[in-house]
Amino acid sequence: MEINKGTVNKEFWNTKRVFLTGHSGFKGSWLSLWLQSMGAIVKGYALAPNTTPNLFTEAQVFEQMESEFGDIRDLKLLSKSMSDFDPEILIHMAAQPLVRLSYLEPVDTYTTNVMGTVNVLEAARSCSNLKAIVSVTTDKCYENNEWEWGYRENEAMGGHDPYSSSKGCAELVTSAYKRSFFNAENTASVASARAGNVIGGGDWADDRLIPDILKAFEKSTPVVIRNPLATRPWQHVLEPLSGYLVLAQELYTNGKDYAEAWNFGPKDDDCKPVHWILDQLVAHWGEGATWELDKNNNPHEAGFLKLDCSKAASRLKWKPKWNLQLTLKSIVEWHQVYSNGGDIKKQCLKEINTYSS
Ligand SMILES: NC(=O)c1ccc[n+]([C@@H]2O[C@H](COP(=O)([O-])OP(=O)(O)OC[C@H]3O[C@@H](n4cnc5c(N)ncnc54)[C@H](O)[C@@H]3O)[C@@H](O)[C@H]2O)c1
Repeated sequence: MEINKGTVNKEFWNTKRVFLTGHSGFKGSWLSLWLQSMGAIVKGYALAPNTTPNLFTEAQVFEQMESEFGDIRDLKLLSKSMSDFDPEILIHMAAQPLVRLSYLEPVDTYTTNVMGTVNVLEAARSCSNLKAIVSVTTDKCYENNEWEWGYRENEAMGGHDPYSSSKGCAELVTSAYKRSFFNAENTASVASARAGNVIGGGDWADDRLIPDILKAFEKSTPVVIRNPLATRPWQHVLEPLSGYLVLAQELYTNGKDYAEAWNFGPKDDDCKPVHWILDQLVAHWGEGATWELDKNNNPHEAGFLKLDCSKAASRLKWKPKWNLQLTLKSIVEWHQVYSNGGDIKKQCLKEINTYSS
């Protein structure tokens, strides 16, 4: 099948069998809905949602997919789940994704993010119809030199905190599995995807900027901000998800040529400091929205990290679509639909449709 480079191809995904780890999370819920909307046959494997509310439940994500709650640290259960489903495409997103929690629970963070990745790839070895594997890590997998240039895919892995370092380790695991077990022509093509901080409606995790801001705005209390000068490569959740889908299309269609690491980040203009995001959200929200500085002694957080996405632009023809202003506007709109008791699934599908058209 001819696929249009750089765009998510609905026809490609129709009836594809996709095994998705982490489907009950924020990105996983959005991706499940997107895949469902294109006619893919999706099975998700993850822990049950751990926040109330959560997008998985609010948007009834489970309705048009097979959903299994299990731990990726349980190799036996995971292997059975995956081989019973017999996927053609595997997208691995399950992880302990929070930096601050990783300081409190380093062992769980490493076992989930590192051994969990080993288990997912090990389980994948027994799936004979598998053609494409996308292993999702993060921009934080790079050794952060606090410089102003974008990080390229060939730069060193590292990480100051347990989360970042566990994702650097997950990259090394993915690379070793690819070279050791997925090298032959008849094996699945394995790639890893590194994206930055994503934002969007339906993220209720603790300790994430936008959810914390919106929670405080709702209560008309000032948002307490740890680091207003921190700059992050902000992007709407659909941006990296489109990158993962485009990458999976290429892996499936063209195989090993694309079996490597890929960055998916926003344009330079959208690498903005936290205080800029706050000012925008305050303006969109209106009355009751304010913020102040947190004076506590907080654990180390990297100050600046930007991805160089030239490779994805030149070889995958992937480019970010929504600028940060549009992204923030869509988040406030999403949140208002939710606050007014509107149909969240419909709102997500509407955003997916607008994004892809
Ligand atoms: N949200 C971001 O800004 C961001 C940025 C870069 C990369 N990522 C990566 O994207 C992926 C998804 O992140 P998210 O923001 O949706 O996080 P999330 O916390 O909303 O979802 C995490 C998912 O992983 C599952 N999970 C966690 N531990 C598990 C275990 N032991 N066994 C099985 N499932 C387990 C959860 O059940 C959930 O489905 C992660 O790999 C994360 O590191 C996220």
